[in-house]
Amino acid sequence: MSGTMCGRERLLAAASGQTVDATPVWFMRQAGRCLPEYRALRKRHAFMTVARTPELAVEATLMPVDRFGVDGAVLFADIMLPLEGMGVDFEIRPGVGPVIANPIRTPADIERIRVVDPEEGTPYVLDALRLLRAELGERAASLGFAGAPFTLACYLVDGQSSREYPRTKALMYGEPDLWHALMDKLTEVTLRYLKGQIAAGADAVQLFDSWLGLVGVDTYAAKVAPYTRRIFDGLRGMAPTIHFSTGTTHLLGQIGETGPDLVSVDWRMPLDEAWSTIGPRRGIQGNLDPTMLMAPWPVVEAATLDILERAGGRPGHIFNLGHGILPETDPDQLARIVELVHGGRYG
Ligand code: CP3
Repeated sequence: MSGTMCGRERLLAAASGQTVDATPVWFMRQAGRCLPEYRALRKRHAFMTVARTPELAVEATLMPVDRFGVDGAVLFADIMLPLEGMGVDFEIRPGVGPVIANPIRTPADIERIRVVDPEEGTPYVLDALRLLRAELGERAASLGFAGAPFTLACYLVDGQSSREYPRTKALMYGEPDLWHALMDKLTEVTLRYLKGQIAAGADAVQLFDSWLGLVGVDTYAAKVAPYTRRIFDGLRGMAPTIHFSTGTTHLLGQIGETGPDLVSVDWRMPLDEAWSTIGPRRGIQGNLDPTMLMAPWPVVEAATLDILERAGGRPGHIFNLGHGILPETDPDQLARIVELVHGGRYG
């Protein structure tokens, strides 16, 4: 790497729209299933044990930092963790994802949801972030995260991963008061959770709205964006914020208006077009298609260079994939991308 900045400085400079010595890079789901060292850790401990034990969570968090030299270290955790403190039982089933024992569907279910502070609901996440900040030093920024209210609602109401989340959308369209009550509680818990993470040492935070692509423009404006905006308004000035979603080319302008510092975009629209849609006031994160990593290196190399060229050296770009790493990804492809992004200076 030819740069003069440390990873933490590089990522945080880009996140606040300042010039950098090279484009910062990290990967969503980097701390997981594609790494043999992670699989070995998971043979010894269950997923929730790793998440609940700060030393183990930090060990998993540091694996990709050590191996790839990424500029961001995303905490090993899951978007579902805060639900436990809210009184919602779930489990994470390998190969399936989160499963909720008793999905939230009635007014009484929503009434029962507890609005808690992270010190009470997820103290181990805050402890892990404190430990991570101490262990990382300057080599990477520590990244906290939370699930966005809409995506959390999808799991809460439908109960597990689904293509369409029909029960969630039925509630959203058909029972506006209940939807508001649910989103209001999820928003409050998420805002407190992210504030707690920043206080505990997260240098920046990402809000994951993974299933947002399921909603249309008007529905987004009426039923989702006000809650997202409340979260970004509440965090302003505390640490840089990143909004993540996928399949949301139709919403990019509106997403920018909710107020994140950066908008993470998927591969469906070229990066420069997406950035024009979002506008120059925000940074952008992305946008390599994770399935492209299954192709030979020259294909990945050309696509990576194309993204850097489209960013054109403008401040405010963080290189990433458009969604999480697939488990079958060859880790060497990721190492090569980091090297290329760090070495390729554009502009
Ligand atoms: O590197 C990282 O990003 C580490 C931290 C992280 C995990 N989950 C660890 C994890 C993050 C940021 C998440 C976010 C997350 N979790 C999202 C948003 C991101 C996205 O992909 O859209 C969502 C929707 C979830 C819910 C969830 N948890 C799913 C869909 C799964 C996958 C189930 C599977 O095995 O396919 C999980 C489990 C999970 N979360 C794993 C990891 C490493 C795999 C579990 C294991 O090791 O058995």
